[in-house]
Amino acid sequence: MLLERYLEEVGSDAIQKALDLDSPRPALVRPTTDTKFGDFQINGAMKLGKELGRPPRELAQPIADALAGVEAIEKAEVAGPGFVNIHLSHEWIAEALTEALRDFERDGVPAVDHAEKIIVDFSSPNIAKQMHVGHLRSTIIGDAIARVLSFLGHHVVRDNHLGDWGTQFGLLIVGMREWGEEEALLADPITELERVYKLASERAKNDEAFADKARAELAKLQNDDADNRALWEHFVEVSRTALDAVYDELDVSFDVWLGESAYHDALPGVVEDLLERGIAREDDGAVCIFWGELDDAPKNLRKQKTPFIVRKKDGAFLYSTTDIATALYRKAHFDADRALYVVDNRQGLHFQQLFAAMALLGVDISLEHVGFGTVLGKDGKPLRTRDASGHVITLVSLLDESKQRARARIDEGIAEGRLRVRPEEMDEVSGVVGIGAVKYADLRQNRLSDYQFDWDKMISFQGNAGPYLQYAYARCASIFAKGGLDMDEAASSAAIALEVPAEITLGKQLLRFADVVHQAGATSQPHLICEHVYELARAFNGFYAECPVLDAEGATRESRLGLTALTARQIRRGLGLVGIGVVDRM
Ligand code: ARG
Repeated sequence: MLLERYLEEVGSDAIQKALDLDSPRPALVRPTTDTKFGDFQINGAMKLGKELGRPPRELAQPIADALAGVEAIEKAEVAGPGFVNIHLSHEWIAEALTEALRDFERDGVPAVDHAEKIIVDFSSPNIAKQMHVGHLRSTIIGDAIARVLSFLGHHVVRDNHLGDWGTQFGLLIVGMREWGEEEALLADPITELERVYKLASERAKNDEAFADKARAELAKLQNDDADNRALWEHFVEVSRTALDAVYDELDVSFDVWLGESAYHDALPGVVEDLLERGIAREDDGAVCIFWGELDDAPKNLRKQKTPFIVRKKDGAFLYSTTDIATALYRKAHFDADRALYVVDNRQGLHFQQLFAAMALLGVDISLEHVGFGTVLGKDGKPLRTRDASGHVITLVSLLDESKQRARARIDEGIAEGRLRVRPEEMDEVSGVVGIGAVKYADLRQNRLSDYQFDWDKMISFQGNAGPYLQYAYARCASIFAKGGLDMDEAASSAAIALEVPAEITLGKQLLRFADVVHQAGATSQPHLICEHVYELARAFNGFYAECPVLDAEGATRESRLGLTALTARQIRRGLGLVGIGVVDRM
């Protein structure tokens, strides 16, 4: 159940009745900042005071009286200049939790009222270049957002918009013919492509003839020359194999791989259209959008001196042109309502310009840049993807290291008697823990901030880290195993009751889940789910320390088993929604 929405409804109802108004007014429900003052605050009287020209406190009292009659509300009291603080009824919370407990499909999280078609453009690395940590962030965050949105009932299209086209392929084609080693290409495609690209671009700098040849090969590729096309396809194929290894490891998948190359044929038309409609104009042979010259361009861009170039002097199209074509296709082909671009903050200006261009073209699609900050190393500088001797640290090797480190920490835990993992389950458990740790370290941050990559904090069974939460889940599961009980069976029959403070604290936390998932989806903020799961694990630990579960009796035992089952399911669901797995035993 969506708690805040429900309270908003009953609140606005109470306001209308209490003040005998002819239309409903918003209750403006907010969680209280301090639980001393209750669970939620209703601020509607403050606003209404202005409207009706009466002191808000005078309005607040009848509202509080009306609210006190609502089943969900135990107590409603006027506070300060005219707020109404409400305390939820424990019986009512318990009933809502029992209902969520029975909802095996969705754990009490309703779908959205209006499902949308949403394209999530994420990961999108450039082939023939190492995927860097920025792409890792995009992959992890984008996957989490796509999972949340689908769970909420949206129609999500996961699109890997590969950087698989552009001037570098001319250089790669001549370079490969000159220096390429097929064996190296098959063994480690990206490293070989990078090596050859470097050689070729170096040579092109001071060898005009070589540069001309590269341009000629590029033109041939773009005009569908069979040989060049085959070579390019080969680059793409070997690169995809290397990328797939990373995606498999991360358990990330895509519905479509519509890279930049997919839009090649549409580019001349895009430029013509922009010219015809007076959005772009020619300038010294190039075609550009000059924001300052367009009356309906957004204000902040109008001050921008540098234009959005859509065709260079030499006729080449750019990232901007491809992205306009891509957005047009997303509307025309997928009939998308929205498209989310999960890309580094540093591309912010590019997306502002892209979205402004789409608005000028009058395309009815909501476009959003879901930006994120930089991953920093221990020294506080952007994380280096090369080791001390200059070797590239690939993402696969980073994920391998995480699994190894997870295994070492698990071995430690076993030696100290804190953890128990069967030898035959060790590979699986260290995989789930290692990969989960990397993902959680990223996802728990507000995505807009930079964050520091720190192995020790990341792979920890204490504190706000993935392994701690996976352990909390396993601990819940182990209670059922120890009692010889089936979690789902217990959940089908238990009636939750909240009696002692630790149960109430846990219950209130559990009650927030649906709101959190909806908010995470609406704002593309997976960290809200991480925060919730972490607070939940802590509330559960408090509960577990105070309240015997298996040793309790009768209805209390049942209720506590119910609370444990719902906690386990919310941790599993919450982590699952951001792409992190759990194991039943560790
Ligand atoms: N390939 C780009 C890069 O690595 C990211 C592409 C993001 N998506 C987009 N539609 N521009 O920087």
